Amino acid sequence: MSFKASILTLYPDMFPGTLGQALAGKALKSGAWSLDVTQIRDFATDRHRSVDDTPAGGGAGMVLRPDILAKAIDHVSSTEDRRPRLLMSPRGTPLTQAMVRDLATGPGAVIVCGRFEGVDERVIEARQLTEVSIGDYVLSGGEIAAQVLLDAVVRLLPGVMGNAASGETESFEAALLEHPHYTRPTEWEGRTIPDVLTSGNHARIDAWRRERAEALTKARRPDLWQAQARKKPTADR
Ligand code: ADE
Repeated sequence: MSFKASILTLYPDMFPGTLGQALAGKALKSGAWSLDVTQIRDFATDRHRSVDDTPAGGGAGMVLRPDILAKAIDHVSSTEDRRPRLLMSPRGTPLTQAMVRDLATGPGAVIVCGRFEGVDERVIEARQLTEVSIGDYVLSGGEIAAQVLLDAVVRLLPGVMGNAASGETESFEAALLEHPHYTRPTEWEGRTIPDVLTSGNHARIDAWRRERAEALTKARRPDLWQAQARKKPTADR
């Protein structure tokens, strides 16, 4: 049984979007994962097919109704469904590579794409939605965020990544940012490739890459550097 993603959205035409292209798109066509997309509005009950209403207590914006969203969720996910239910939201837990890896080993995910000011809190509780954020900025909806999350998950699924080794050594898996990369031509616009990389001395190359990765991490991501220094107390700060 391959990874199964179910999307709930008011904008189904946004899918598969980027997930229909490149690595994720090929994996979708090959059956390494599957995607179904449900229009939340199909579960509206009034003749205007409305899905939102004004916030209790007043204020700006509109709130997604709990009854409509619950019906949509129940349509795609029964009580026996073991898949986690996620709600893409800027107030969610920040997405990390550890969460991505966890999801990739599971049966799939039911992903609700938020819109408007928010979603009625009662449906988040009653349907056990885990709120996930892709970063500290506000998108106009959760659709792009859901694609970001699924892209990160799909590339880790069995048989998806061509070169498995490139997955392991990448940023965050090793808790360091990646070292710089170079390829031909050996001279371009007067710029050359660092000599060590053409030396053929693999011990020296590994040491150089490690040093560059550490320097980049310290400069750009002091938070990551500190976190890995705590994990490995011998590492210098
Ligand atoms: N919806 C709007 N902004 C978002 C964010 N930063 N992450 C996830 N979902 C969102």
